[in-house]
Amino acid sequence: MSATNIKDAVTVPKVMAQKGQVPLVCLTAYTTPIARIVDRHCDVVLVGDSVGMVLHGLDDTLGVTMDMMVMHGRAVRRGVEHALLVIDMPFGSYEESPAQAFRNAARLMAETGADAVKLEGGVEMAETVRFLTARGIPVMGHVGLTPQAVNMFGGYGVQGRGDGADRVARDAVAVAEAGAFSVVLEKLPAPLADRITRDIAVPTIGIGASVGCDGQILVVDDMLGLFADFRPKFVKRYAELAANADEAVAAYAQEVRARQFPAPEHQFGEGKPAREGGK
Ligand code: KIV
Repeated sequence: MSATNIKDAVTVPKVMAQKGQVPLVCLTAYTTPIARIVDRHCDVVLVGDSVGMVLHGLDDTLGVTMDMMVMHGRAVRRGVEHALLVIDMPFGSYEESPAQAFRNAARLMAETGADAVKLEGGVEMAETVRFLTARGIPVMGHVGLTPQAVNMFGGYGVQGRGDGADRVARDAVAVAEAGAFSVVLEKLPAPLADRITRDIAVPTIGIGASVGCDGQILVVDDMLGLFADFRPKFVKRYAELAANADEAVAAYAQEVRARQFPAPEHQFGEGKPAREGGK
């Protein structure tokens, strides 16, 4: 399902069929311009609740609201034509009951045009996953390090080491058997991610997990190097956009102060314009 071969839109059954095949390429997006770029190359685009930390400067994802997800979901939908568009259910929008989860998942899908929702949790969320999928809402699971539970974990450390391995494996099996069409495995030892990938029948999508997962996902701003000081082990930077932006803004500031910008070609004359692009 590489971008160059995508003829039709990616669907939930197509994602499921990638189990054990060419790895699924997944990235987050929060805005239309970035969504257009990632859509050219990805099988799955996720409007992650990481938007709260990445774009809104929050300390964690707990303050992300349904309204924020709807706004960013709509923006991303305008840029995504081929990839499967998945949207995160924010903290507090689904944990109370399957009925609450259905109401909010239906709102997210109806108001954004997303194809599926993602929610965090394992055994305790299996009933909710079953309730949603039985009613037409495809669900991507998310186990291991579930950032909405940061206060329970006491941080963003690796999960599933030692005695914790069986618990995470049970979580993945529970949401997969409840009907999730794929499961994100976040920050697990690679051997555990490989074991879960063998044990469940739907694709695993790794982030800080294993190259053996059925797909990989990263936060797009992380892999583009938009955060100069954030260098977690599991992120590979494919660009250094923070450094590029810093250089560009410094050059602009220097040229404005030296009256070098705007140059003649950026200014308008009084005669008939040869070209007056822009807004
Ligand atoms: O919110 C998010 O961006 C995520 C991915 C990193 C999996 O949940």
